[in-house]
Amino acid sequence: MLRKIRFDFSFVFSPNISNGVSEEEVNSYKKKIEGVIEEIKNEKPGFILIPFDERNINSVKNLAEKYDYFRDYEDFVVLGIGGSALGNIALRDSLNGLNWNGLDKNERKGFPRIHVIDNVDPDFVASTLKNLDMKKTIFNVISKSGSTAEAMANYMIVKGIIESFGLDVRKHLVITTDPEKGVLREIANEEGINSLEIPKKVGGRFSVLTPVGLLSAIAGGINIDELIEGAKNAYSLLDEKNLWKNPATLNALIHYIYYKKGKNISVMMSYSNRLYPLADWYRQLWAESLGKKYDVHGKEIYVGQTPVKALGATDQHSQIQLYNEGPNDKVITFLVPKSYDHEVRIPKIHEELDSISYLGGRTLNELIAAEQKATAYSLAQNGRPNLNVEFSKICEESIGEFIFTYELQTAVMGKLLNINAFDQPGVEMGKKLTYSLMGRKGFAEFRKILEKKVKKYII
Ligand code: PA5
Repeated sequence: MLRKIRFDFSFVFSPNISNGVSEEEVNSYKKKIEGVIEEIKNEKPGFILIPFDERNINSVKNLAEKYDYFRDYEDFVVLGIGGSALGNIALRDSLNGLNWNGLDKNERKGFPRIHVIDNVDPDFVASTLKNLDMKKTIFNVISKSGSTAEAMANYMIVKGIIESFGLDVRKHLVITTDPEKGVLREIANEEGINSLEIPKKVGGRFSVLTPVGLLSAIAGGINIDELIEGAKNAYSLLDEKNLWKNPATLNALIHYIYYKKGKNISVMMSYSNRLYPLADWYRQLWAESLGKKYDVHGKEIYVGQTPVKALGATDQHSQIQLYNEGPNDKVITFLVPKSYDHEVRIPKIHEELDSISYLGGRTLNELIAAEQKATAYSLAQNGRPNLNVEFSKICEESIGEFIFTYELQTAVMGKLLNINAFDQPGVEMGKKLTYSLMGRKGFAEFRKILEKKVKKYII
């Protein structure tokens, strides 16, 4: 396979990093990792099968074809949250580019603008909806459970608006949800609204390569076959036994060993605005999958590494002081494109001013590459482990490969931590309390928790 992303682990290991992880430490996990990979292969967590599930991609293509690839619409709006939104944003920004919604229709090759409403901030929702021509807008409500308050509230608002315009809901709404369960599935069936299925065994944060992420991607003209091809390339890592040739398992192991040594934070710092939302996607994947109170046997363990996102070069002037000289508690991952779509040259002006004349005639491409290299070296000098994920090009295949590699890495890390990486019991209580505050039937008992006497410190 021709891999489109490459990992540079040079500044992870000792002696390049003082007190860094050693090759011997990694090798001592060889047997353990082989066992972990075998378990993952046998258990087949839902996401593993996705790249090879033809129905998955065909259902999206068939639906898009029904709507003539949404060319009659000006705007395509995703309504979802968490795993039902973060991947959509990452695909749009990395592959459609940052200004997709600012382009005119010709420049967009007839495809609609892509929006993602992933919050219930009234100002955000109202101002996004205000700018849409409802007659030329199609909404895609995405919710695996069909009960998430944020997604469902936005769905109800939008349905109300569509109906108030006297428009046919079936032309302006597509539902993506569980194949059988949940109220959204009922609505789709009863009202004849076109729908797509999220495979049963695939959880939200692992679902970007299912109809969850693929429909808005195809609506934006992204080549979803190539995206899946990239994921397939990464799938082959499951058969790569040599740890030193397997970035998914090696990176999980590196994070695990460093976590055991007190590195509680995993920073993902993108040197590309387009790749930056991938760090947001990663934040959810790493946090929700690995932050757990119990191990697989029910023993309290309280584990998890806090994922943090950063943007280079911007955050060199905001975070790097801390990363270099603050607590040595981080593993830092840089996302580094080896080529950008544009080359921006700095004009040769101010040649008399030594402090800036060196920039004249050079490119922003050279500058950002130098900044990244300098940051990595300075961190290494200070004994701060860091690694590069290098994208030969920002394209469908490299993004698909990145997504699947990180999903696999997360599954391996879950096994090393001995936890279930595929549930999220820690978000349930907040959901139930919200339901009870909003008066949902059957959740009244949770009010008792809210009504408990709390000593106030409001100043
Ligand atoms: O990873 C997860 O399972 C969650 O983050 C969900 O994606 C999120 O809570 C949204 O859930 P749903 O798709 O059911 O609305």
